[in-house]
Amino acid sequence: MASLSSYYTLLAFLIPIVIFLLTRKPKSKRLHLPPGPPGWPVVGNLFQVVRSGKPFYEYVRGLRAIYGPILTLRMGTRTLIILSDAKLVHEALIERGALFASRPRENPTRNVFSCNKFTVNAAIYGPVWRSLRRNMVQNMLSSSRLKEFRGVRERAMDKFIDNLGSEAKDNVGVVWVLKNARFAVFDILVTMCFGFEMDEETVEKMDQVMKKVLITLDPRIDDFLPILSPFFSKQWKKAMEVRKEQVDFIYRIIKQRKRELENPGSEKKATSFSYVDTLFDLKIEGRDSVPTKEELVTLCSEFLNGGTDTTGTAVEWGIAQLIANPDIQENLYEEIQKVVGWSNRKVDEKDVEKMPYLEAVVKELLRKHPPTPLTLTHAVTERTTLAGYDIPTDANVEVFLLGVSDDPNVWPDPERFDPSRFLGGDDQGRNDIRMLPFGVGRRICPGLNMATVHIHLMLARMVQEFEWCAYPPGSEMDFSGKTEFTVVMKNTLRAVIKRRV
Ligand code: HEM
Repeated sequence: MASLSSYYTLLAFLIPIVIFLLTRKPKSKRLHLPPGPPGWPVVGNLFQVVRSGKPFYEYVRGLRAIYGPILTLRMGTRTLIILSDAKLVHEALIERGALFASRPRENPTRNVFSCNKFTVNAAIYGPVWRSLRRNMVQNMLSSSRLKEFRGVRERAMDKFIDNLGSEAKDNVGVVWVLKNARFAVFDILVTMCFGFEMDEETVEKMDQVMKKVLITLDPRIDDFLPILSPFFSKQWKKAMEVRKEQVDFIYRIIKQRKRELENPGSEKKATSFSYVDTLFDLKIEGRDSVPTKEELVTLCSEFLNGGTDTTGTAVEWGIAQLIANPDIQENLYEEIQKVVGWSNRKVDEKDVEKMPYLEAVVKELLRKHPPTPLTLTHAVTERTTLAGYDIPTDANVEVFLLGVSDDPNVWPDPERFDPSRFLGGDDQGRNDIRMLPFGVGRRICPGLNMATVHIHLMLARMVQEFEWCAYPPGSEMDFSGKTEFTVVMKNTLRAVIKRRV
């Protein structure tokens, strides 16, 4: 038995070395990559990252301090080039935007869930991406389209406040913030996506299916070492079951919408248009056929997933900061009262446009706690150089957003939560990349406007209706985070709420 285990240990040691020797490139072909921590043959820095026990973004933050604003991390067969400097990001994503606008190859599981990159976020830079993105932006996310869903938002906000109120009533004033915020925004997106209001049970079931999808897509060791994938056949089988559940469930809802379009009036609470309506006959550049059943499901899922956890997370961090900084919460409440005129009127999205302090609070919360500390992974369309280093086409180019927005050379005292940084005409336009929670350039988040409306509206309503206090009372807020698709609070936020009179 002992000799068998030593045999396996020896094999485990030798196999990587043999692969390394077989796959090593001749010196002349080696690239001049940015600096980074020394790694092992084959596995590179993979085990260092895993064994650090830190969330990936914390690990990267540590590396930035040692290796500077452009660095390399080798994760098995993947080479990550990580940028964390505003000027470099500007050069890559804006000045040379087209070159850096693609996405890298996917692992087999992600390929199934994205229908071979048939989504806005995963598509390589080219005609498919252009067609899908144009459709999503023009038909759903432009300012004029957004206005048409105002009623949907108002209804969801009322429900959100009611839910918080009744949860508090049943739990001596204590509520879960993220769960309620996620649900409220998911509710809005579901109606926008499928064109009719659903009962809470269906929305909840859909949310569970979507969560399963996100968990299934979490990175696994064989994403970085594909040679190990035969050992993950069970996980593959499970992933395919989740995919089937997702397709069956979502397609049933899509068919329900189709019936409504063919037979208007069959759904009592139908909206005049929805995202899925724009997809049925969508023309894709360079392709004759309209989206298939799986592609429809995939595109709808992208719409729901893109805006749910991101927005919910932002609201959770925002409320945590308002609890930790009662003076800021008070300033915000005063601004709300000033705008609604001390009446009992509910603050609405027109009011929100007149609230510079709220806007500053939201900017500061997105600077300090970008829900995704790294953008989605970019790739270059052809080999190039940046800051004097090679950037090959098969590298994952990662933009470390948190590294930009907490850079002490750009932000004085970056650790401090201080909305006043954004008061006084400091315009943070789309091309200002001192903070970029939505990314920047051609792949900038197309949901930026909608997400901003949602965050403003939710925080304004939450603060207008309730005073937010720490739970347990008097406790200090713990601002550590953990990655769960987005970076959420490590200790999921519970708060005591008191209805304002
Ligand atoms: C607070 C909320 C949100 C944050 C912080 C956020 C952040 C981001 C970031 C950082 C990216 C990657 C940009 C890049 O790769 O350079 C992105 C991409 C994307 N986001 Fe958002 N997002 C939010 C809400 C939304 C919403 C509401 C939607 C739509 C319903 C959405 C849909 C997308 C899509 C489709 C992409 C891919 C764009 C492309 O590859 O062309 N996001 N988002």
